[in-house]
Amino acid sequence: MADKISFEPPRGMRDFYPADMVWRNKVFDAFRASGEAAGFQPYDACVVENYELLERKSGEEVGSQIYHFQDKSDRHLALRPEMTPTLARMVAQKQKELSFPIKWTTIAQCFRYERMTKGRKREHYQWNIDIIGEESVMAEVEILSAAVDALCRMGLSKSDFKVHVSSRKFLGQLLEKSGIAPEKHAQVFLALDKRGKMPDAEIAAMLKDGSLSDEEVAATFAIMDLKSFEGCPELEELFRLAKVAGFADCLEFDISVIRGLSYYTGIVFECFDVAREFRAIFGGGRYDNLLTSIGGEKATAVGLGFGDVVVTELLKSRLGDTAISAKKGYTIGYMFAEQREAALKFASSLRARGEKVDLALAPQKPKKFFSRANQSGALYASFIGPDDVQQGVVRVKNLETSTESKEELV
Ligand code: HAM
Repeated sequence: MADKISFEPPRGMRDFYPADMVWRNKVFDAFRASGEAAGFQPYDACVVENYELLERKSGEEVGSQIYHFQDKSDRHLALRPEMTPTLARMVAQKQKELSFPIKWTTIAQCFRYERMTKGRKREHYQWNIDIIGEESVMAEVEILSAAVDALCRMGLSKSDFKVHVSSRKFLGQLLEKSGIAPEKHAQVFLALDKRGKMPDAEIAAMLKDGSLSDEEVAATFAIMDLKSFEGCPELEELFRLAKVAGFADCLEFDISVIRGLSYYTGIVFECFDVAREFRAIFGGGRYDNLLTSIGGEKATAVGLGFGDVVVTELLKSRLGDTAISAKKGYTIGYMFAEQREAALKFASSLRARGEKVDLALAPQKPKKFFSRANQSGALYASFIGPDDVQQGVVRVKNLETSTESKEELV
């Protein structure tokens, strides 16, 4: 006998059974609808990327999590851990032809060799929306407005989540005022991004390794206690415009939002559930140098990545099955092979009207048909027997109300 192969997918990779697809579709539908409603154009790209592009652009942590391999011609390739370097590459390739600002959106499958915890898998889908070529804070406003809209379309309310917002530029200015030289800032950002994930003592040690003095470490921690963004015009403008757009209540200034990716240069944000039970729902910010760093022309950009894993966990916990329980469409069965054609005809006429119909593939006993029908997600069930065909009518049962109506069999 052949050796039994494991039925599990590789660790951290994901199978989607039909029951899982219901959730995935719910989340993807909201991503697509919100992107479209806000005027973002869909794009897509290859999942396999040049390793060099990803490794250089993703920042230390993500850079170390890349799945990579040599192909048969010795090219160094990788599965993308995120979409942003690929987006930058695509834009740089056609930078002369594109008319800026551009607003693009995609749902990208991404791979990261992560330590597996709640909300973190080695494969995830990430909704990306990016605006390239717009200097003003309107770009941040539009990106955040679309993300808040997506969460609401999924059934969450604005009191379920908060978008924590800060600015790397602002933090840089504060560090500089404390005497910490700009060339040390990247190190400081990296260490501060670990706050809450590791003890402060370890972060202090990281900062000292980055050649900060004891006083500078103390000053850095003091900045982290700041509660006001006074003196940061772009954050003031963001909060003002968010109020006009109706989502200022979803925003909160939080100096501790740094972001692990190295390319951010301005406003940065991360969204969490209010109870802080889950990992980040989405994250993003402004990145001004990514295009030039890969050899493109200078272009400012703002965007976000919104994963499917955390938000699905949140939806399941907050809304349970009510989030996906809306019944719709028809299920049609028949008692004997002689009624098959009548059933097929009825199904075809309903489908031609645009209805969703699940037609039985073989005759069934009524009891079995109705017990499956009740679990099928269909709103209407029709079971066709010899009498129905003779009388030329089908009985259509509403499975929610248990009421019955009749339709002519033509
Ligand atoms: P990121 O913060 O690394 O940003 O990821 C964005 C989101 O993707 C996270 O908030 C989370 O929802 C999801 N995510 C990331 N890694 C995993 C994982 N291992 N398992 C499950 N979900 C995950 C970026 O990737 C940036 N490229 C976003 C961006 C787009 N910035 C500008 N444009």
